Amino acid sequence: MQVEEIKKICVLGCGNMGSQIALNAAIHGFEVVNMDVKEEMVAKAAAFAEQYLPGRVKKGRLTEDQARAAASRISHTTDLEKAARGADFVIEAVLERLELKRQVFRELDRICPPHSVLATNSSFIVSSKIAGVTKRPEKVCNMHFFNPALVMELVEVVQGPHTSDETVTLTMELARKMGKTPVLLQKEVYGFLVNRILAALMDEAVWLADMKVATPEDIDTAVTKALGHPMGPFRLMDLTGIDLHYDIAMEQYRETGDPKHKPSPLIVEKVVKGEHGRKTGKGWYEYKE
Ligand code: CAA
Repeated sequence: MQVEEIKKICVLGCGNMGSQIALNAAIHGFEVVNMDVKEEMVAKAAAFAEQYLPGRVKKGRLTEDQARAAASRISHTTDLEKAARGADFVIEAVLERLELKRQVFRELDRICPPHSVLATNSSFIVSSKIAGVTKRPEKVCNMHFFNPALVMELVEVVQGPHTSDETVTLTMELARKMGKTPVLLQKEVYGFLVNRILAALMDEAVWLADMKVATPEDIDTAVTKALGHPMGPFRLMDLTGIDLHYDIAMEQYRETGDPKHKPSPLIVEKVVKGEHGRKTGKGWYEYKE
């Protein structure tokens, strides 16, 4: 399949990542169905699209026609059959639970046409742990976006041992058509490129806060003012979700058995208290909206 033949994209998961990936695809000319099993997530994603597009027009980033066309290309549903039927390309962005992803891919393989590529946006689950439940492992890969997905330019495309060169080329081209800059990982590695580098930074930042060397605020100030990062590691954790940070660390700990990968007590405390970051109104910082 050529990238020009991709007309319909199905994005599974109406969370932070899924809803922004879907909207980004619609803005870039694709017909998109964004699906979630939870009604309230579907409603939230639809409401986000409804307020985001006029906001882009007001800011002069889109014309009224472009915004109207994007709105007409995106729909939201709780119906997986409807979302996946006839999709040329699927981007799965459901919760980071391996069994859930395997179940979703089994269903997708049954519903989607034989030519469809099935990609996962997982931050750390490599597609070789999923591809085996489908009859098309050569069409399964990782396509990893960054938060906020409407803004961040990078997409990591990861070729598993089962992924064909054709699938990789198509996924890279699709990322470019979605206005992104793809990089290719020629083999699977835990955490891919960015999250490996980011984890090293975040672990060090949390250790410094845990040791009470400095407050999270001052560590963020140090990283933004000295290293030029757009936001410090604590503010970034609030953006991506402290619960996700915990899941990634636990998965890495299970995989390696190395105690240095175990989430710090500070992180565990935040997760237990339900202070997961922006999405819960409180993480390392407080958020009014
Ligand atoms: N959703 C959508 N768009 C957003 C946004 C959000 N949550 N936050 C900001 N934006 C947009 C704004 O609308 C604005 O767009 P325009 O300039 O086109 O109008 C642009 O981003 C800049 O926004 P602001 O001026 O309000 O704020 P800023 O300059 O501080 O930028 C930021 C905000 C883009 C989030 C910036 O701070 C940044 O790049 N932070 C680092 C983010 C990062 O590192 N992401 C990677 C996380 S790791 C990850 O994602 C791994 C994973 O596996 C999940």
